[in-house]
Amino acid sequence: MIKGNQFSGPGEARILGIETSCDETAASIVENGRIILANTVASQVDLHAQFGGVFPEVASRQHIRTIYPIIETALQQAHMDLEDVDAIAVTRGPGLPGSLVIGMNTAKGLALGSNLPMVGINHLEAHIYSAWLHWPPLTSESSTPVLAPEPIFPLIALIVSGGHTELILMKNHLNYERLGYTLDDAAGEAFDKVGRLIGLGYPGGPAIQKASQDGNPTAFAFPRAWLNDSWNFSFSGLKTAVLREVRRLQLYKAELPVADLAASFQAAVVDVLVGKTARAAETLGAAEILVAGGVSANQALREAMLAQTSCTVHIPPISLCTDNAAMVASAGYYRFTHGQRDDLAMDVLPNWPLSEV
Ligand code: KG4
Ligand code: ZN
Repeated sequence: MIKGNQFSGPGEARILGIETSCDETAASIVENGRIILANTVASQVDLHAQFGGVFPEVASRQHIRTIYPIIETALQQAHMDLEDVDAIAVTRGPGLPGSLVIGMNTAKGLALGSNLPMVGINHLEAHIYSAWLHWPPLTSESSTPVLAPEPIFPLIALIVSGGHTELILMKNHLNYERLGYTLDDAAGEAFDKVGRLIGLGYPGGPAIQKASQDGNPTAFAFPRAWLNDSWNFSFSGLKTAVLREVRRLQLYKAELPVADLAASFQAAVVDVLVGKTARAAETLGAAEILVAGGVSANQALREAMLAQTSCTVHIPPISLCTDNAAMVASAGYYRFTHGQRDDLAMDVLPNWPLSEV
């Protein structure tokens, strides 16, 4: 279907990706790890907004309702049937157990019914592989598509999502050495908690970004947790500092300076994320940096990362930063072509680390 692309990977394969680790039900079909043939995401964000965060029981019930229509839509988008697919990649963990199980059982049913191989994928690995995806999707109409440059090893990957903040050294495909991680809140979690604290809705990340546009990032001198130059992160002190400031302001003022609080908080998070990532790349001799996960959609983070390093920086387009199944299919391609096969005994792993190192 695709003519003239510059792919030179380990083999040809089309992977159906399935993602249900949190509150997005998603299916995608990706060719050769990089070419998106279909990408469908049903977000439950409106459903959970009323609870101020993801309600696990509600999430899994909604996945049950949505998963089959979403897969059907992805196959239609790609003009394919299940028999045109070479393997099914499904998120195995980490994530909400009740949500993961829906994707996993769906994948098993499809694999059994169509005799397709299955590959279980770590959700953090999937976020990393979003950097390999070509965007916008190449269509059969584009006669001579050229793929965007592929990340080159060794590279430093910063994963910043609602549940994780990890700094990873990648020397090769599927090879992860964890340099640092968060000691308390994840970056996205901090955005969500501070969003709630200053009266913005859920999810806090996009709301804080929006409010920050009218704010002064130096209005409040919030702390940066450098942790004696370790590669680890900590955001709970920052969150507490915002809470203290909010309480102090509430004593004097009826209305909070939401834009200034948001901009100052965002600047503190971005400073530390960018500072540590850029220094890790320099110290470890990595020529490239990759940023992925929901928080990598943040405009201030994207701009600062590009401005503060001489490394080549890969950040997925906004629509591939938050949870999607194209990234699962991409990671699935590299695992599948490296020989991984999982059987029907595979179970979900809600606390699965990306790397034991
Ligand atoms: O990767 P993701 O979709 O789900 C997890 O794997 O957790 O990340 C969701 C997180 C949420 O905490 C959300 O607030 C944050 O990503 N997020 C953002 C932005 N968009 C989403 N944080 C900061 N700025 C954004 N623009
Ligand atoms: Zn995620």
